[in-house]
Amino acid sequence: MMRMMVVIMTIVVALGIVSRQGSCTIVQFIFGDSLSDVGNNNYLSKSLARASLPWYGIDFGNGMPNGRFCNGRTVADIIGDRMGLPRPPAFLDPSLNEDIILENGANYASGGGGILNETGGLFVQKFSLYKQIELFQGTQELIRNKIGAETSDNFFKEASYVVALGSNDFINNFLLPVYRDSWTYSNDGFIQYLITTLGNQLTILHGLGARQLMVFGLGPMGCIPLQRVLSSSGNCQEKTNNLAISFNKAAAKLLQELSSNLPNASFRFGDAYNVVDDVIKNPDKYGFENSDSPCCSFGRIRPALTCVPASRLCKDRSKYVFWDEYHPTDKANEIIANEIIRKLGFVHVNTTSSQGPALAPSS
Ligand SMILES: *[C@@H]1O[C@H](CO)[C@@H](O)[C@H](O)[C@H]1NC(C)=O
Ligand SMILES: *[C@@H]1O[C@H](CO)[C@@H](O)[C@H](O)[C@H]1NC(C)=O
Ligand SMILES: *[C@@H]1O[C@H](CO)[C@@H](O)[C@H](O)[C@H]1NC(C)=O
Repeated sequence: MMRMMVVIMTIVVALGIVSRQGSCTIVQFIFGDSLSDVGNNNYLSKSLARASLPWYGIDFGNGMPNGRFCNGRTVADIIGDRMGLPRPPAFLDPSLNEDIILENGANYASGGGGILNETGGLFVQKFSLYKQIELFQGTQELIRNKIGAETSDNFFKEASYVVALGSNDFINNFLLPVYRDSWTYSNDGFIQYLITTLGNQLTILHGLGARQLMVFGLGPMGCIPLQRVLSSSGNCQEKTNNLAISFNKAAAKLLQELSSNLPNASFRFGDAYNVVDDVIKNPDKYGFENSDSPCCSFGRIRPALTCVPASRLCKDRSKYVFWDEYHPTDKANEIIANEIIRKLGFVHVNTTSSQGPALAPSS
């Protein structure tokens, strides 16, 4: 117990964010899509993007569906755990109140959501990033009323922020001809539109107090099982992968600019594109046996769209890179999280050591 306290204190000191008020709870606020959703969409009764049925969540907690679009943990779960931060509950969880937010933060991520408002319209109900930020503003008001403006400002300045969206802006917008953006923009024009929008959104978050913020980049989206099955060859769609690469490059530059232009901002970008690409090309090198089809599916009837109780599961979930047509397994998420942690320069917490620096950025 003491050792745990020492480790936690070390993290706090290393991050340089010990509160002057003496309250030193650091929490996370998470903005994202289905890769980070921990249950919001399950409360959106009209949403067509929900992980509310078995076998979602089979390797998490009691094994019942919990809203994560995965068999186990999300990338943000794993990174937050590694940083020693509590896992923020879904914003729409009816038990959420000010005390819980002050202790654990909140997660606004919503399956089908994108950087753009118009993304994911086919899912009927979802929170776009702008909407998520609006909800966060509501949260700030609640907290301000509860603990006062000054303490509240400090609380939100000390918090850690995660923003992880973009896949749906391609998969469920730009690459689908039913969406207007697909015939309005060129590839470069669309990426510019996304980056400009994201820049505005991150600037709004800074204005609301965000100082420590991470943006997760995109993986090789052209290699998700759905994209493969839609290609005649069964191979990855290089065109889609190239969009992810271009987006990541532009986002990295954006984050660098914001970090140097916005006062006191440590805004950082981390992606795991290259590692996931390597995992997909050389699954055996990482202990996987399958990197091209979903663990949960109807066998040869593809695409399966979603995992449902009637689906068949692969024999060993730790041997599959993909859980369903879109989303990686817990095991793959661990590799992604480790890579992002490495890129962002965080040293693993050594719980057997009483001397930090546990989570000090290495650069
Ligand atoms: C996006 O949606 C939000 C509401 O969620 C709205 O306030 C904003 O004006 C919209 N922005 C654009 C560019 O449509
Ligand atoms: C930046 O940090 C300094 C020192 O903590 C503080 O005095 C200043 O108000 C901060 N500026 C902003 C915009 O947060
Ligand atoms: C953790 O710290 C302890 C004591 O400093 C050291 O003996 C041990 O090797 C470290 N473990 C790792 C994985 O770095």
